[in-house]
Amino acid sequence: MCGIVGYIGNREASPILLSGLKRLEYRGYDSAGLALIEDFPAIAENGQRHSGIHAVGRLVVEKCKGKVTDLEAMAADHPHHATIGIGHTRWATHGAPSDVNSHPQTDESGRIAIIHNGIIENYSHIKDRLLARGHTFKSETDTEVLAHLIGEFYVDGRSLTEAVRLALNEVVGAYGIAVLAADAPEEIVCARKGSPLVLGVGSDNENFIASDAAAIIAHTRQVIYLADNEMATVTRAGIKTRTISNVEITKPVEVIEMELEAIEKGGYDHFMLKEIHEQPRTITDAMRGRVVEEEGNIVLGGLQSHLDELRQAKRLILTACGTSFHAALIGKYMIEQYARVPVEVEYASEFRYRNPIIEEGDVMFGISQSGETADTLAAMREGKGKGALALGIVNVVGSTIARESNGGVYIHAGPEIGVASTKAFTSQLTVLSLLTIMLGRMRHLSVVDGRAMIRKLLEIPEKVQRTLESTERQIRELSDTFKNASNFLYLGRGYNYPVALEGALKLKEISYIHAEGYPAAEMKHGPIALIDENMPVVVVAPQDEVYEKVLSNIQEVRARKGHVIAIATEGDEQIGALAEQVIYIPATLSMLTPILSVIPLQLLSYYIATARGCNVDQPRNLAKSVTVE
Ligand code: AGP
Ligand code: GLU
Repeated sequence: MCGIVGYIGNREASPILLSGLKRLEYRGYDSAGLALIEDFPAIAENGQRHSGIHAVGRLVVEKCKGKVTDLEAMAADHPHHATIGIGHTRWATHGAPSDVNSHPQTDESGRIAIIHNGIIENYSHIKDRLLARGHTFKSETDTEVLAHLIGEFYVDGRSLTEAVRLALNEVVGAYGIAVLAADAPEEIVCARKGSPLVLGVGSDNENFIASDAAAIIAHTRQVIYLADNEMATVTRAGIKTRTISNVEITKPVEVIEMELEAIEKGGYDHFMLKEIHEQPRTITDAMRGRVVEEEGNIVLGGLQSHLDELRQAKRLILTACGTSFHAALIGKYMIEQYARVPVEVEYASEFRYRNPIIEEGDVMFGISQSGETADTLAAMREGKGKGALALGIVNVVGSTIARESNGGVYIHAGPEIGVASTKAFTSQLTVLSLLTIMLGRMRHLSVVDGRAMIRKLLEIPEKVQRTLESTERQIRELSDTFKNASNFLYLGRGYNYPVALEGALKLKEISYIHAEGYPAAEMKHGPIALIDENMPVVVVAPQDEVYEKVLSNIQEVRARKGHVIAIATEGDEQIGALAEQVIYIPATLSMLTPILSVIPLQLLSYYIATARGCNVDQPRNLAKSVTVE
């Protein structure tokens, strides 16, 4: 959730922190802030640092509710010269978004500042103790309590690192933190448990801290990923790492491949639209180097050492949240049809708390774009702890789920910045198709069948391109007609039932129109009561095995005067007579239709949301990566 950036070096810290925070804006947040240790006498006219070091600096905090641009304006009004600082974007959990609840939070003395992602679960217990000792609190946050607790330990000549470490040993919960102290103006202390933190190794006596590499790749590609229960002391000269139980550790420096252009808008109005248009390429990238057409087979590098377990698997458990959960539902249809292995799909948040039964031969797949979703991570840990092989289908390279899995497959969609997931979904479906073919070939699928499926899959990027080109304009016009609707219903059957769920999720996330997805046949068991002349109903109806059945469901909607928008297969004229609007997609194998049928639904939600003036890249209340449960 939200963002952390830290800098220590020879340059002005504020602009580096502010531009880093802007790179993290997509994660979703409601307030932003900076803490700096002013040491202007140490900067000469030419911007170079003097060698003389101040033992004590002046700690300044600037923070406000709102956007990074608001913080930027505030920082411009009160310029501070500092070469060390931390910056935060908050996604409120404890206390409403407000100036005072924004981070950084300070301790009782006002000499320690902390930024925090996550939740301190035992904060009220600690707060009571501190209140009894005479502390006073300004905010409602759990974070401020941690700041005060660190302050309590920062006495008797203890180092800041040791004070932070001792405080963390009393804390229950999840955190990524960075801490500054006026009395230790030459270091930033940071720690992680449950919220991602990466350290950037700079080249010229400077180092960085971030919750997401995107915030610092403009400066360095050399990074150290902190693992849970690890902390670091970051100075100009270097980075020292230890566990929070005080064992010194040496962490490898890794190089990130991400390109800067990948996290910029490239001429599109929004990241979401850019990402929708990237799909022909990202789907190709998900298949790259993995298809052995001649053998009708698939090679997934990250699963090579688990082929026996996959061959002998008695059951697969797919677990995920949100859009990734919808991909998992489609995965079940695919894998059960072609590989004939029973598949269970479960929301990670349910799986983790209901004492699930794990038996020998169970293989779990956690599906996650970010690789940081707290519920998915916890579900994976739960399954792994009970003896399941835990594999990941993940986008963000080096993310926690990717690291903690026994193996897995990267979807290679590149950074997804828009909060509404689009390209990650189609890449997840592509990888699930590859997995289906691979598992099928281990069991019942012939080489000829495998080849035929691969050929259909290889045609998909071009068909996605065609869908984008042939439908975008029509959808933009259509959006104008329906932009004022208060409700939408999305229907589909078989492979396209989860697509209906996904279409509804996309619309509600970014346009705030209430939308529900249903299996088309379930409509008559309840939702049909909602249908009248004001209800737009999007029906995903490609010519697959259940096509005729869906046509009957369309009739039922029409009979009650609902407005039918159909997603249908090119050349289908029959449906034109039934639906008010038909959006055509190319024909393909039923299993692969979701990759095409979801494209018009992504565009529909995008254009309706923009027609309503909504901020599609940063929808209200949502965060890109949900690292709290
Ligand atoms: C998608 O549009 C959503 N913003 C959300 O449902 C998301 O899919 C969910 O939070 C899971 O995220 P993950 O794939 O990063 O685990
Ligand atoms: N729990 C903290 C708060 O509400 C941090 C939330 C966050 O992750 O931004 O302030």
